[in-house]
Amino acid sequence: MQIDLTGKSVLLGVTGSISAYKACDLARLFVKAGASVHVVMTPSAERFVSSLTFEALTRNAVLTEKSESWASELNHIELGKKCDVFVIAPATANTINKLAQGIADNILTQTALAFKDKILIAPAANTQMLAKKATCNAMTFLQNNDYTMIAPQDKLLACGDVGSGALADPEEIFFEVAKALYRDPFWENRRVIVTGGGTREKIDEVRYISNFSSGKMAKSLSIALYLRGAEVTYISTMDFDGLPSAIAPIAAEDAQDVLEATEASIQKVTTDKGTLKTPYLFMVAAVADFTPKEPKSGKLKKSALGDTWSIALKQTTDVLASIDKSAIKTVGFKAEMDTQEGLNHAIALLDKKEVDAVCYNLLKDAKSFGGNENEITFITKEAQVALGRADKLTLAGKILHESKKLIPEEETND
Ligand code: CTP
Repeated sequence: MQIDLTGKSVLLGVTGSISAYKACDLARLFVKAGASVHVVMTPSAERFVSSLTFEALTRNAVLTEKSESWASELNHIELGKKCDVFVIAPATANTINKLAQGIADNILTQTALAFKDKILIAPAANTQMLAKKATCNAMTFLQNNDYTMIAPQDKLLACGDVGSGALADPEEIFFEVAKALYRDPFWENRRVIVTGGGTREKIDEVRYISNFSSGKMAKSLSIALYLRGAEVTYISTMDFDGLPSAIAPIAAEDAQDVLEATEASIQKVTTDKGTLKTPYLFMVAAVADFTPKEPKSGKLKKSALGDTWSIALKQTTDVLASIDKSAIKTVGFKAEMDTQEGLNHAIALLDKKEVDAVCYNLLKDAKSFGGNENEITFITKEAQVALGRADKLTLAGKILHESKKLIPEEETND
């Protein structure tokens, strides 16, 4: 799932930590996402990684003490001006302490002091260096004053000690930077529940009934929401890889699990008074309508079942129809194969399950499931908006754009 940073300029600051080599991976992630990447390095960082490495990865000249030029934009004032976001990764304890004091004694700290917006910082240092009162105070000060911290990891550090201080994974830093670029006041701090994946209804302990749903649309929506600043509850039966750590997934298996997890999450987001923003539920999960009436323990033997086998099924509880929707905006999903009546069925869902909107997609065949693309029409009582065909993350962005209109009185800064 590729987050698009086309048209964005990222300024990557690298300081003198052993994890400076990981900044190469990070630069690569930004380049792959389509961003234009500029790098500024402290003299100590140059002892770990060559500026030539970053120049080759980014195809841009690297700002160092030696390369600074006042005949071009490669200086500590102009470089920051042309970038949308500044991330320092890795940031040593020394740099963190300097930044908190407003000290500008090298090319990177000078660039940071001159930078107009928030700066993201991914610390990397020995546990004791980070735990020192001075560094702790510096980090608290920075966090309260326009800097965003990307927490270091607990693990075996390069110096041999075990503890907090390892640089966050490049993927996690990438997510945080993308989030700074995608931020949307409408979704920021809004609690949103997303359900996804096809449920598995047990026949016995090794067999189940399911459907072809891949869970990718729900995952894309969760990531799109995270990028816009929402607090996401992601309930799914599958596909938990590659999520930012801020999205704590809730694993479900069958329709009953999805029902219980959705009910509990709605209860939580509607009673928690942390935010006054109306929560949303995107009910993408392909919940089985029927489940085996009497799931068996152990493994049923073929010899005992005979030539044909009938399994008695009972209806599951319809999650979307049964939940309390009084304090939450709900968006249902409707996949249909009937070209004549599909759209009417989707429109009917508005009343049938009393939802605020329906995302309708017409499937051609079983292969329509599981792909990276989808085509959706966003249906409300007032309008039907064709969102077109696109990769699922782009489509998720369009769904969120339309979903904002479900609360017209709130500001939509788009
Ligand atoms: N849904 C649900 N609980 C179920 C079944 C479906 O919450 N037991 C939700 C799905 O997550 C989706 C919406 O209901 O958001 C539409 O599901 P669908 O089964 O297509 O709707 P039905 O009206 O039940 O359609 P059909 O008669 O075609 O099965």
